[in-house]
Amino acid sequence: MIATPRRYHITTFGCQMNKADSERMAGILEDMGFQWSEDPNDASLILYNTCTIRDNAEQKVYSYLGRQAKRKHEEPDLTLIVAGCVAQQEGDALLRRVPELDLVMGPQHANRLKDLLEAVFDGNQVVATEGINIVEDITKPRRDSKVTAWVNIIYGCNERCTYCVVPNVRGIEQSRTPEAIRAEMEELGKQGYKEITLLGQNIDAYGRDLPGVTETGRHLHTLTDLLYFVHDVPGIERIRFATSHPRYFTKRLIRACHELPKVCEHFHIPFQSGDNDILKAMARGYTHQKYRSIIDKIREYMPDAAISADAIVGFPGETEAQFENTMKLVEDIGFDQLNTAAYSPRPGTPAALWDSQLSEEVKSDRLQRLNHLVGVKAAARSQRYSGRIEEVLVEDQNPKNLHQVMGRTRGNRLTFFDGDIGALKGELVKVQITEVRPFSLTGIVV
Ligand code: SAH
Ligand code: SF4
Ligand code: F3S
Repeated sequence: MIATPRRYHITTFGCQMNKADSERMAGILEDMGFQWSEDPNDASLILYNTCTIRDNAEQKVYSYLGRQAKRKHEEPDLTLIVAGCVAQQEGDALLRRVPELDLVMGPQHANRLKDLLEAVFDGNQVVATEGINIVEDITKPRRDSKVTAWVNIIYGCNERCTYCVVPNVRGIEQSRTPEAIRAEMEELGKQGYKEITLLGQNIDAYGRDLPGVTETGRHLHTLTDLLYFVHDVPGIERIRFATSHPRYFTKRLIRACHELPKVCEHFHIPFQSGDNDILKAMARGYTHQKYRSIIDKIREYMPDAAISADAIVGFPGETEAQFENTMKLVEDIGFDQLNTAAYSPRPGTPAALWDSQLSEEVKSDRLQRLNHLVGVKAAARSQRYSGRIEEVLVEDQNPKNLHQVMGRTRGNRLTFFDGDIGALKGELVKVQITEVRPFSLTGIVV
């Protein structure tokens, strides 16, 4: 008798870190003989890779989970897994809340999925949330794209921003060695991948935990050194990195990005607030003047560089005047894109306990005003592309117009143009921009 392979489904919430972890966990499952099922209801193993950055992200997980937990009463063979940041935050408490769960596993345990599942199939309910040295990845991720890929370079975060759960759920900083990173990139280059995004929650911290310092006391392995080390990997045409922290962003890094042709002119540098007192209360470790000077330096070397960032409105105690300072920063800098959020108090973070919390009305009013400004500024920034010739790396068909393909410019603007995906996927194409919108472009092949 031939056993039919079991089918799995993964739903991923949250940031690129989680997406990269999901791809590795999918690789492990396929290695174990599981097959992907697009519809979770046809799968007999369901994994939620969760996010707890804001309360609404966490609540979304519980509503998804509730539905599958019910299903388990009719299908006792269903395997239910919660991975990622909610799993780490809640641990055992998740089993009490949802007793149908088979496995609760924190992000540091992603590469151990096979071992953990074996314990589950032996009849155990497993919780894996203890801090560990992350096991170097030995499996082949099942990557969503054939063109662009994520490569983790540092896990965890040692910062203590007063609003943020990430250090609690992702643990301390652990850098991979330059050799392991390069080896992964070489493999990707051989497989035909063209673009790599190097990932870390605080990518500027890369290498601080690796041994070795220079004669001047500088760490031997920094993000800048890593860029020089991996830059010539054959086949890889573009390199990006995220997320940058203004506190550690160096001139040396800016010069490297300028000097190295594969490093794209796009920088994601969250500022969170444009007000110095709020920045201090957030424990961010820089002033708005420092932030502005970084952007000035980037634009001095790369005048056309795209800049994106994250910002929080309605942090505890934020006055109208302090919020206006955030608006002013956005007005002055002109971001190509800005991820905005209303402050959400998170368990286990200092700011959640302060009694200066703002009302939901104030927070959502500020969020709307900021978003409006972001749209206006992004539209203005898009204008500079009009009529220009841009290099687009083709990733996919335009799902809304099958005669078109889509990809990104070096500055990370989503761009559409007429073409056949069969012929163009993974190609770098010169496109003349004919239409601009705030966050995307349309053009024709030249
Ligand atoms: N490591 C990155 C960002 C990590 S979290 C950095 O240092 O900037 C992604 C974004 O979520 C943050 O940049 C911040 O803007 C937002 N965020 C984090 N905690 C939040 C909270 N409690 N409420 C609202 N937004 C939050
Ligand atoms: Fe969170 Fe701050 Fe670390 Fe970013 S740097 S992940 S905001 S603690
Ligand atoms: Fe969310 Fe965890 Fe990323 S909390 S934003 S998935 S690090």
